[in-house]
Amino acid sequence: MNNILKVDPKSPDRRAIKRAAETLRAGGLVAFPTETVYGLGALALDPQAIRKIFTAKDRPDWDPLIVHVRDLAMAHTLMKRLLPQFELLASRFWPGPLTLVVEKNAQIPNEVTARRATVALRMPWHPVAAALLEVTDAPIAAPSANRFGRPSPTRVEHVAEDLGDRVDLILDAGPTPMGVESTVLDLTQSPPAILRPGGVSREQLEKVLGAVRLATGVADEAARAGLAAPGMTLKHYAPRALVELFENMEELQTRAAKLRDEGKRVGVLDSATTIERLAQTVFAQLRDLDAQGVETILCQLPAPQGLGLAVRDRLLRAAGKGSQT
Ligand code: TXA
Ligand code: MG
Repeated sequence: MNNILKVDPKSPDRRAIKRAAETLRAGGLVAFPTETVYGLGALALDPQAIRKIFTAKDRPDWDPLIVHVRDLAMAHTLMKRLLPQFELLASRFWPGPLTLVVEKNAQIPNEVTARRATVALRMPWHPVAAALLEVTDAPIAAPSANRFGRPSPTRVEHVAEDLGDRVDLILDAGPTPMGVESTVLDLTQSPPAILRPGGVSREQLEKVLGAVRLATGVADEAARAGLAAPGMTLKHYAPRALVELFENMEELQTRAAKLRDEGKRVGVLDSATTIERLAQTVFAQLRDLDAQGVETILCQLPAPQGLGLAVRDRLLRAAGKGSQT
């Protein structure tokens, strides 16, 4: 592929970033690394460019996009009103893997927010994403750079595999450092609700905010009813193989032995590591096991604390079970 540009993840080459920014400003699509996963970016205020994102991903138009901002000032230009909770959270967790849902300003196209009155805002810390935002000097809408429903891309090969030449340029900075997506926190609800657990943990948020609700169950019901429920369709992050989940390793081993006796090709998610390392590799492992042609992938669920909540959520969705986290 000749649309992939290698960049240093710590100090990206200015010329590469300039080329990417020019591609965006011309209304094109650029895949770029963030600290969580690779994103598929387009100018957030350009409805035509935004439509290209939905087409490239085969994403249904009811699923709204996250808008990435360079700094707090840029975020403010996109919000309807200032909010003390927003300021507090941004000062504590930005730049970083926290996406805040707030009431949107009229200038944000309906295409971005799927006609909602709210917008999801995030300021990434990855040096490549930060440099791209700085040079482009405009908000960048970017969902994860995978085909809709597939595991999120943590390596450039995943982006190329899913999107290939549907994207004008891919910035390759190697594997993304965190591996699971940002936490999506809805500040229009009281108490604030986690719509998707992610890189900033519930416990970290509760230290700052007091009580925080986990809204995933509600979202799954909405998804079942066919309503617009953010990143929250029941089957999401899914490999082609069947995914079976286990709370404990002995049950998993028993099941693996049984399937192997039946002549099935079985893959086991390697989770005997730190939760940080598991988060980093979970999507790549699902894709790799698929590529090996296994029929069933067996996974042990991590405990629902800290980053474990996010990994658990992704595995439940990969198994088509929604998220009971
Ligand atoms: O880490 C991340 O968040 C990555 C990187 C690229 O920043 N992006 C990402 O985007 O995961 P995406 O589109 O794959 O997931 C965004 C989630 C979806 O579940 C979407 O429905 C939800 O955020 N979302 C976006 N706007 C929203 C809104 N106005 N209200 C509620 N949920 C929203
Ligand atoms: Mg996604």
